[in-house]
Amino acid sequence: MISRTGLTFESTSNSIANYLFNQTSEGYFRVTTESTARESEFGNSNLEVMISQEDIASRVRVLGAEITKEYAGKDLVLIGVLKGSCVFMSDLMRHIDLPMDIDFMAVASYKDGTVSSGDVEILKDLTKPIRGKDVILIEDIIDTGLTLHRLVDILGTRGANSIRIATLLDKPEPRIKKEVKVDYCGFEIPNKFVVGYGLDVAGRFRNLPFVAIIKDPDQL
Ligand code: IMP
Ligand code: MG
Repeated sequence: MISRTGLTFESTSNSIANYLFNQTSEGYFRVTTESTARESEFGNSNLEVMISQEDIASRVRVLGAEITKEYAGKDLVLIGVLKGSCVFMSDLMRHIDLPMDIDFMAVASYKDGTVSSGDVEILKDLTKPIRGKDVILIEDIIDTGLTLHRLVDILGTRGANSIRIATLLDKPEPRIKKEVKVDYCGFEIPNKFVVGYGLDVAGRFRNLPFVAIIKDPDQL
């Protein structure tokens, strides 16, 4: 325990309040902010990158260009399914060089154990009608397809001119609703649980700039 100018600290590297005190070989103490002492979330050793930030960016650019070409002259509105789609949607829309609008929905999908039951409750509805609009529903990932199938059913009663689906990730293997047609897909992935770029586990990891697999879920 060393005491100097009223501050108390233990040994070579210790965090007190917002500051980190380091003892150097010359015996001086360097003060840095606490953020340098925190473990990096993006560099978390329990994550294995599946799709890099660069690969996502170039794929999203291509999808945006396709949509720009196909929706010229239409009354386009992107509908993001919260919360997972927020990162993908905000990147994608900046590659759609057309007049357009955005809206959001939040839904809860009910599960029987770990399997989606197909029942969907609307937690947050659209702010504007979609009658006559050309809608693209934006998803982070399609797994069983049950959530999206139900959502298309619901929106299908509201008089949109067209409804298409764009998803960053598609896991075709666990698909139950085979009739869910994905119009724009970033990447098809194997049946593994992934996080990052909007996708979470218990609310965490949405901020990762890449898509990753959790190596050891027991270590979260
Ligand atoms: P489903 O297609 O109805 O089975 O459900 C899709 C929803 O489940 C997605 O919008 C995600 O919220 C969630 N989900 C499915 N697979 C994953 C995953 O690998 N990581 C994170 N969330 C997932
Ligand atoms: Mg989701």
